[in-house]
Amino acid sequence: MRLSLRLIALLATGVTLLTLVVTWADVRAERLALGERLQQQAQTAAERLQEAAEPALRRGGPGQLTETLERFGSREDLAGAAVWDGKPAPLAATLTVARALNGRPDAVPRCDASAPHCGAFVTLNDMALFTYSTPFRLERTKAGVVTLFYDVSDFAARSAHAWHSALLQVVPQVLLIALVTVGVVHASVLGPIRKTAHWMKDLRFGRATPLSDPADVGLLDSISTEAAGLAQSLASARAAAEEEARLREAADSLWTPERLRVGVHNRLEGSRLFLVSNREPYEHVRRGRAIEVQVPASGLVTALEPILRACDGTWIAHGSGDADREAVDERSRLRVPPDQPRYSLRRVWLTPEEEDGYYFGFSNEGLWPLCHIAYTRPMFRTRDWELYQRVNHHFAQAVVEEMAGDEAPLLLIQDYHFALLPALVKHRRPDARIGVFWHIPWPNPEAFGICPWRTELLDGLLGADLVGFHIQAHCRNFLETVDRCLECRVEWERHAVYRGEHATLVRPHPISVALPEFMNEARDAAAAPDWDRAATRRDLGVEGLYVGVGVDRIDYTKGIIERFRGIERFLERCPAYLERFAFVQAGAPSRIQIARYQTLLVDVEVEAERINRRFQTGTWRPIHLFRRHHNHEEIARLYRIADFCLVTSLHDGMNLVAKEYVACRDDEDGVLVLSQFTGAACELRDALLVNPYDIDQVAAAIKTALEMPGQERRERMRRMRRGVRERNVYKWAADLISELADVRAPAARAPAAVEAEWL
Ligand code: G6P
Repeated sequence: MRLSLRLIALLATGVTLLTLVVTWADVRAERLALGERLQQQAQTAAERLQEAAEPALRRGGPGQLTETLERFGSREDLAGAAVWDGKPAPLAATLTVARALNGRPDAVPRCDASAPHCGAFVTLNDMALFTYSTPFRLERTKAGVVTLFYDVSDFAARSAHAWHSALLQVVPQVLLIALVTVGVVHASVLGPIRKTAHWMKDLRFGRATPLSDPADVGLLDSISTEAAGLAQSLASARAAAEEEARLREAADSLWTPERLRVGVHNRLEGSRLFLVSNREPYEHVRRGRAIEVQVPASGLVTALEPILRACDGTWIAHGSGDADREAVDERSRLRVPPDQPRYSLRRVWLTPEEEDGYYFGFSNEGLWPLCHIAYTRPMFRTRDWELYQRVNHHFAQAVVEEMAGDEAPLLLIQDYHFALLPALVKHRRPDARIGVFWHIPWPNPEAFGICPWRTELLDGLLGADLVGFHIQAHCRNFLETVDRCLECRVEWERHAVYRGEHATLVRPHPISVALPEFMNEARDAAAAPDWDRAATRRDLGVEGLYVGVGVDRIDYTKGIIERFRGIERFLERCPAYLERFAFVQAGAPSRIQIARYQTLLVDVEVEAERINRRFQTGTWRPIHLFRRHHNHEEIARLYRIADFCLVTSLHDGMNLVAKEYVACRDDEDGVLVLSQFTGAACELRDALLVNPYDIDQVAAAIKTALEMPGQERRERMRRMRRGVRERNVYKWAADLISELADVRAPAARAPAAVEAEWL
């Protein structure tokens, strides 16, 4: 109330003052204009009177002059006139003037030497007058003064009216202001404050109600956004505390972001964490005139992002977005995630030629098919190899720059794009503890042996203190390859390679995902009150009682065509499912500069079309292919509407889609059909494992998935969720980091670095 009163008093005073000043200015302007006009009129009239007055005075003295003044006054429409000869009383005056001046001759201002002409507004005997005095010749050049009187009562009445209306206007204005002020203060300030306070109180007592409609909080918009963020942090902190308490209670050892943060902090003893990958976690891309932030479709990014969020540190990656340069500082750095910065991203810039040779060429047309036995021939070009070396040197330079000033830093290098980087960094920073994680399979020595630069690649990798793979089989393949190709000592019991005095440990560390309970966006999606399976299917245009889902980058290793053929065989064999089953394939186009990927895009589309044409009836069709990038929320929704998820990779290091599907199913329902050639198959034993090359087996697995009794589905899903929960990505990071942190730094001399023949 006090706020309203203060506002009303202030606004009312302001409005009143403003009205008075405006009225005063109007009246004054009119008075000045009138004074000027009458002054000119009076000057001319005085000159005419002079001509008549002198003979009259001569002829009949003051009496005759009085008559002349009366006559002149009525002719000129004057209120009166008077002539003075230097004495206080007038020499001659019209009757009205004589009466008005009776006893008060000084009531009229007269001119003197300093102001020979003077006009003034006066009031005589309640009459509003304008008087004008000017020098006047009397007999024999004797000097006198004449005063002419004009009636200005009209003007006086107008002025009084103006003041009157101004004051009358102020009253309703002030009332209106009072009403509006009270209304606005209540609706936009006091109401939202009361609601926010109420909401905060609820929050304090652990009643997590959503903050009211944003329209309700009006002016307090920015405060409410901050408060919502605060609430979210509070809710996460409360959930983490509850989880910790639950874990203590159950003597469990679940890894959480908080536990990882504290654990890493203790293990690193002040050293910092650096991570290198080709793909960056956030890309700035241009959409028309706007710049958008996009999270690229990459299992590696999905897995590593929660770790950096938990531990801070610096992520060094190729700046591949077309608006990336606009988002960084002069040292090519920025803090991410953009809406809630938790760690640093250092972007490394490559020329189109470098990107072509290093990324598309050597990494993705050479090493990718070499390591994935998926029957696409690897291409090895000398120019690509030169550019691969050059880019590894660029990244080494960036890493060394970022590490400057940090003692015994911890470096986690990701994937096949950087086989040379471990040795290059070790050479310049022997104190750094370096781990390299190979996210894709490692083939047997014969298969790897066809690479013309196998020795250099192994040399580079062995610069690391730790080489990680997802599964034991890939570790074994790597050790055998090293044993076959290099002069070194492999210690099979310890899974270590010794070259000179440098030891490299080779270990399996199966990567994983963060369960939605630790990821705000997924938890929000799950809790959304409007969450509606039927509505999501309608949005997607999917018809059918049963829905299967596939989520992949469009890559030949993912077995997408084999998957479609499995669906085709299933419909052939089980026609009862026609019009009752639909399959949604979310496919993000990937590496489309490479010819093999371009033809694959077309092949996938043609195959889906062919199968749809074969079975479709009316508006129903079996395969819905969405060829675009999907964000995390969209994918989480897809997982939740699916009766089963189909992962049919021909070969895959891990495949995180399988784990993400399991992680998202907090309803403990749904079936996972999983290729036996994925790393994930070693852990998710409750999935229906298939050989994707065996189309009949894939078809049979789809049928089994759709007809599995509810109880079995839930038991299998519950067991898989327990596994993913216990071996989540925080545990992966904790194990890897703690193994690496145990490396004695500075390590003995590194193996000979891959030197700069690339120039
Ligand atoms: C695989 C690789 C990652 C890569 C991802 C996406 O998961 O192991 O290193 O980031 O594919 O591929 P892209 O070439 O688009 O980064």
